[in-house]
Amino acid sequence: MAPKFEHIVIHKSILLLIIIQSVACLSMETDTISTGVVIKDPQTITSQKQIYKLGFFKPPNTTNRYLGIFFTFSQETVIWVANRNKPLKDSSGSVTLSRDGNLVVLDGTNQTVWSTNLTTTSPVSLIVQIVDTGNLILREEATEDVLWESFSQPTDVLVQGMTLSQVLHFIGALIVSRIFPLEICMAWSVGLLLLRRCGISFTL
Ligand SMILES: *[C@@H]1O[C@H](CO)[C@@H](O)[C@H](O)[C@H]1NC(C)=O
Ligand SMILES: *[C@@H]1O[C@H](CO)[C@@H](O)[C@H](O)[C@H]1NC(C)=O
Ligand SMILES: *[C@@H]1O[C@H](CO)[C@@H](O)[C@H](O)[C@H]1NC(C)=O
Repeated sequence: MAPKFEHIVIHKSILLLIIIQSVACLSMETDTISTGVVIKDPQTITSQKQIYKLGFFKPPNTTNRYLGIFFTFSQETVIWVANRNKPLKDSSGSVTLSRDGNLVVLDGTNQTVWSTNLTTTSPVSLIVQIVDTGNLILREEATEDVLWESFSQPTDVLVQGMTLSQVLHFIGALIVSRIFPLEICMAWSVGLLLLRRCGISFTL
């Protein structure tokens, strides 16, 4: 009787392990996209310390969908948008690192709606990574040479003559230093970027 019972216990724990691993796989907790890998809406990639995600989002009151970088804890706080001028009309979009070395956003029929537009010629191994400062970096895997980064192309989500990387470092530091998981909202007021707990008035 005793050996049989042990068997059952072992099987249960193996089953539990499998379940835990499948759940981990589903959430795709990787921070990179390699050539040929397709990230389909609503999949995301997440920076190492889980501060930022790259994925598709939908602004309120529209069905348009965009590829963007947003906070893990608040999808509404978008810091960068790729296909701002060419929204996807449904959730059949995807993002991939194409064989010609560009990060591209594709619609449901695999038409390119946005691209990093690089004209790389050498067939080197490239990788795209979302890092904890909120930057999305396309680089050569071996040399780490940066070919393109989202910081070099800030959108109007956070622009007013600031140095974006400084602001993001600042926000990143705030979150890391335990304000997390409180939601931090941001707003411009008379030329200052204000950070507040969400719900608290933004007036100075
Ligand atoms: C969305 O639409 C509702 C109803 O028309 C409106 O009250 C709300 O302010 C809108 N929200 C945004 C973010 O535009
Ligand atoms: C789009 O490309 C993916 C991967 O290359 C492929 O699996 C899929 O069938 C294509 N979809 C269409 C509509 O061509
Ligand atoms: C690439 O070119 C297209 C068409 O000219 C443009 O709409 C898009 O914004 C460009 N992408 C980047 C990353 O500059």
